[in-house]
Amino acid sequence: MSPLRHCLRSLHKCCRLDWCSGGRVSMTQQCIHVKARCPVYPRTENTENPIKRFEVPDDKVPWKVAFPKYDPPVYTAPSVAKQPVWADVDVLNKDNKNKTPKWNSLDGKINRKSHEGRYEINSCGCPKNPHGRTGLKGRGLLGRWGPNHAADPIVTRWKRDESGKVVEKDGKKVAQFIAVQRRDNNEWALPGGMVDAGEVITTTIRREFGEEALNTLQATPEEIKQIEQHTNELFAKGTEIYRGYVDDPRNTDNAWMETCAMNFHDQQGDSVAKFKFCAGDDAVGVQWLDLDGSLQLYASHVNFMMETAKKLNASW
Ligand code: BGC
Repeated sequence: MSPLRHCLRSLHKCCRLDWCSGGRVSMTQQCIHVKARCPVYPRTENTENPIKRFEVPDDKVPWKVAFPKYDPPVYTAPSVAKQPVWADVDVLNKDNKNKTPKWNSLDGKINRKSHEGRYEINSCGCPKNPHGRTGLKGRGLLGRWGPNHAADPIVTRWKRDESGKVVEKDGKKVAQFIAVQRRDNNEWALPGGMVDAGEVITTTIRREFGEEALNTLQATPEEIKQIEQHTNELFAKGTEIYRGYVDDPRNTDNAWMETCAMNFHDQQGDSVAKFKFCAGDDAVGVQWLDLDGSLQLYASHVNFMMETAKKLNASW
């Protein structure tokens, strides 16, 4: 079995999604991140200087377990260090002493609150990954120290045969969802994206779906008007599937991804039939995929799909 398959197996074994009282889903504490410990940091693999994470065995992931030998390298991608608008200042640089972000709160328009509760700040003044060690310090490719918020639309319909009859497997209806192929690593994923400063999650969900699955960035004003009409219909009512930490390969000890994933199910399939799907922005492909236990998707997206299948009482 390839190391990646092994990782995914163990991720699925230890990662449970539980309903909690608020009607939301959260990963249980026993869930340990796997992709966030990938041996070589994304987008450095084929460079002169691949960034290798310090190896963290499963039992040493939690901060509360002593690991005296732990000595991870520090890495912040040059594109982040240049400090574009979406990135924070380098809090490790003493010149920025007066610019310390307001951790665990709404810092101007930037949401530095974690969906998972309060996170700690270490002795160097950096947020500590609430899911434990990753083998790398700094921000890597992530702009924000601490939580970096994303949002994911899960647009589903029932799979139908040529006669329009819903397809069944093992006595349950088969559902399908819109997936995009990511430009950065070719993996299939939900058409989600980063929440812009000051943006509400439902806006991000609609915007990202438009940009990645309908290529709105290249659409004419007339086409945009039509797309808006159709998205208003589909996105009027959604169900939250997940809100919290994501086991993302870009995570570090001091910066990590969080998301809110929402399901928009088109029972009759006539709303989604109006869309002309076309990959755009950070996506290079778009297609309907069956909800199925053998799916392999980016980050923890497969867990969201499993939960969606449960909620729709669809085959998995
Ligand atoms: C993606 C989201 C994903 C998040 C966390 C973002 O870059 O667009 O789909 O949930 O990262 O992995």
